[in-house]
Amino acid sequence: MGSPLSGRGSAGGKLILCGEHAVVYGHPAIALGIDRGTRVTLRQTGEPLSVVDADGQALDDPRLHEAVASLIPDGWEARIASDLLIGRGMGSSAALAVALVRAEADARGLSLTAEGVHERAFVVERKFHGNPSGIDHAVSARGGVVRYRRTLAGPEITPLPIPSWSLVVLDSGNEGNTAQLVAGVGSRRPGIDPLLDRIGVIVNEAEKHLDDVGALGKLMLENHALLIAIGVSTPRLDDLVATAVECGAAGAKLAGAGGGGVVIALTTEPDDVLARLRAKGLHGFVCRPAPPRAQA
Ligand code: MEV
Repeated sequence: MGSPLSGRGSAGGKLILCGEHAVVYGHPAIALGIDRGTRVTLRQTGEPLSVVDADGQALDDPRLHEAVASLIPDGWEARIASDLLIGRGMGSSAALAVALVRAEADARGLSLTAEGVHERAFVVERKFHGNPSGIDHAVSARGGVVRYRRTLAGPEITPLPIPSWSLVVLDSGNEGNTAQLVAGVGSRRPGIDPLLDRIGVIVNEAEKHLDDVGALGKLMLENHALLIAIGVSTPRLDDLVATAVECGAAGAKLAGAGGGGVVIALTTEPDDVLARLRAKGLHGFVCRPAPPRAQA
């Protein structure tokens, strides 16, 4: 073998401001790319495919292995470094899918269009959960704040202005199983369809009030109540939402599939809100919406 080939790719995480689950059924959602993400480095080894963490330790999760193997053949090592909480609604699987697609293209000396990244990452993302709306990897690939809608003709992605607020992210300490949660919501339809319709209305309202923290916060709280009603919240997530509001957030909700994962709290004073949350023994961190990425 001549000098071994290599490739690198990165992608950001995401947080869903409003509209998760309903987005699977054609309603709009608003999500933001965040200033945390995942990097993949590929190295040609000539050995069976290996998937390792940033320190070179083997990552044994079979689903992760299957997802990487859907794109990367034997003969390569995929090294994955991430500062996203894994399985917590921060788009870790989508960021991995997009970073892998970019690293593979880099190793082959190809440049991909934004559509090419989206399509290939969708195939990898499907290994993690069967019926993705596509919002996670669309936002992971392009960053920025977007309104997303799945249509029969393909994804409808509308960039929105970057707002001035921040989100305080609180970890429930548990992973949610996105595949099971999405399937559970599907099994409760059509009974819950009016609730999903209402989530769609909230998203349209949120888009109009993106820079009005008071109005947006109330919409997030209503969105959280609807997520409870469709069966994807947990008592721990509900407590975190209530505590975030007690600590001065304008609104809060679970973000992502639920069943665990994170709560996001909306505020223009993230340091103060975080300090009050810490005084109550809760750990969180601040995320800012990331600007859109310049290239595919
Ligand atoms: C997961 O981050 C968001 C869900 O709406 C699923 C999806 O849109 O693919 C729960």
